Amino acid sequence: MTETVPTTIATIPAMTGTMGNATETISRLPGDPPAAASVARMIRVDHAGEYAAVRIYQGQLAALRARGKADLLRHMLTQEERHLATFDGLIADRQVRPTALLPIWHLAGFALGALTAALGERSAMACTVAVEETIDAHYQKQIAALDETEADLRATISRFRDEELEHRDTGLAHGAEQAPAYRLLRAVIKTGCRAAIALSERI
Ligand SMILES: [Fe+2]
Ligand SMILES: [Fe+2]
Repeated sequence: MTETVPTTIATIPAMTGTMGNATETISRLPGDPPAAASVARMIRVDHAGEYAAVRIYQGQLAALRARGKADLLRHMLTQEERHLATFDGLIADRQVRPTALLPIWHLAGFALGALTAALGERSAMACTVAVEETIDAHYQKQIAALDETEADLRATISRFRDEELEHRDTGLAHGAEQAPAYRLLRAVIKTGCRAAIALSERI
């Protein structure tokens, strides 16, 4: 028995250090100010999402340039470019590391836009609905997680969310639901977007 005493005493300082960190993590409750790391993750993933959105609309325009919906697509592209410019600014101001996956989103975003548009205008609109629905849910979660200490960021995300919902409504108003295999296309794109969000938060 006596042999175990020194060992126990020796472990106390190390354990206190570990427990101190654990207490810090556990003591954050819903409603507490979001940790800087979690805000940085939000900015990283939103920057990635807006970057991909620009590429999707560029891909759709490349495929549908001379067609009737080009003006609509150009309008949505202009808004996405503004969203991206804002997150470019936030990445720089707050020294957030952008996702390492940007080169992938550069290609994948354009390909998604071009391929869905190649299937037809209604498929392009179905892609818009799927993407914007996913971004809406994603932005809603962030708006709920941000508090007064990040009121400006929360207002920015809230404003962008309103425009993403306009894009979704534009898609619905222009035949998205009449696209061939609409439900399947929408489900596949939403799954892909959710995976891209999860990856861009972490990598
Ligand atoms: Fe956007
Ligand atoms: Fe959008």
